[in-house]
Amino acid sequence: MATAVETPSVTTTLPGPRSRPLLAAQARQGYAALSDPHGEVPFVMAAKRGSIIEDVDGNTYADHVSGWGATPLGATPERVLDAVSDAHRRYGLEISNYITSPPVIALAERLLELAPAGLTRYAPSMSGTLVVEAGVRFARRATGRPIILGFLGEYHGEGTYMTAAHSTDLSEVPSGSAQFVPGLVFAPYPNRFRMPFHRGAGPFDDTLTLDYVEDWLLVHQVEPDQIAGVLIEPVLTEGGVIVPSAAFWERLEELRRRYGWLLILDEVQTGIGRCGTLFGAELHRLEPDLLLLGKGFAGGGQPIAAVLGREGVLADADGGAGGTFAWVPAACAGALANLELIATGGVLENVAELEAIGKRELAPLVERHEQVGDVRVLGAMVGIEFVTDKASITPAPAFHYAVHQSLVRRGVLGMTQWGKWIYRLHPALNMPPELFAWSCAQVCEAVAEVAAAPPAEFRVVDR
Ligand SMILES: Cc1ncc(COP(=O)(O)O)c(C=O)c1O
Repeated sequence: MATAVETPSVTTTLPGPRSRPLLAAQARQGYAALSDPHGEVPFVMAAKRGSIIEDVDGNTYADHVSGWGATPLGATPERVLDAVSDAHRRYGLEISNYITSPPVIALAERLLELAPAGLTRYAPSMSGTLVVEAGVRFARRATGRPIILGFLGEYHGEGTYMTAAHSTDLSEVPSGSAQFVPGLVFAPYPNRFRMPFHRGAGPFDDTLTLDYVEDWLLVHQVEPDQIAGVLIEPVLTEGGVIVPSAAFWERLEELRRRYGWLLILDEVQTGIGRCGTLFGAELHRLEPDLLLLGKGFAGGGQPIAAVLGREGVLADADGGAGGTFAWVPAACAGALANLELIATGGVLENVAELEAIGKRELAPLVERHEQVGDVRVLGAMVGIEFVTDKASITPAPAFHYAVHQSLVRRGVLGMTQWGKWIYRLHPALNMPPELFAWSCAQVCEAVAEVAAAPPAEFRVVDR
């Protein structure tokens, strides 16, 4: 998979002279969330080739965002592009809910063939937000029960119902609407590094979160037979690459079987290769009743998402997903080409190589710097958690942000948000290992640079 690797280069101040007026125009045109007062992404993109983004000032960056997951093979494999444009020429933007076509059926066939055992049906959709909402509807319909058990710290999108209540990662959504969303109960996401009611860093036993469910939630808040299902990501993604232990999953499974709760697995971000396996479910041999796909499933082609489900959950559900733009033929053709590339094209081997490089190059940062609390690497995901000090593990958003800004100046664009303290790298699954190793070296230098003169911190709630 190794090719001649282009090294990123930033030669102007940021934003550069051509980017500056364009960013100012967007700030005038858009709603407030589109202005970028803290300079999160201080440039305007001109083009992307593979994993390299070029801005309108001629600067180049290694892309560790990957369209927030939607371009898992960079921009964009010819096979995906050809599949999309051929299907679009042939069928147009057709409503697949009403008039189906061969690309729709071919994609469903292959997807269900590759899916975890027992998932035999699909429902079409357009985005991660919508599949979460659909998954919840299906679980309630299948069980006749009203309540969903979710986990604090997860992010499930920007809708107004389910996803609003879950958007707990500094999104603006929950502040305005979470309190108006009934039908949900929460426990903390199982996190071995940081645990409520405990000071300092773990390692903690993350099954404590299920003690809370059994000893508090089910005693004081909700009857077990009111719960339709458990909505959870196999790995906490937006919340900072947190992988629950095998013991957590075993005990969750025990509870689910005891009380008849469905498992609704949000694989919008973990699915289609991101974890180094085709599905995150494979990491702990999970057996979901519903599995939700978006982002990387589109493969950089056209927007598309899917709910996969067991016979007993989806076979009788005569509505609850879909929409005008769901599974249009071009999106299906692109997603199928992408699935083939990832399932059979040596991509997962490349992810294993990226994971090994990430662990080797970045894990030592914890020993080197007081402010690096934890480094977590899984597949093509890296989360670096910055803290003021190792004893208190108080979040260090200012330190984190300074690292991000240093990295952008060095030509590495990762995932961040003002107020967060976990920096993430999210490379394309086929990023050349040389470019990934170069990026890791830049991360190490940027952390050392900021550690030499750490900025004053602010409290996350006061941001
Ligand atoms: C785990 C997870 N679920 C759902 C969503 C929402 O997806 P979308 O942005 O396509 O609506 C996201 C988006 O980041 C996500 O990470």
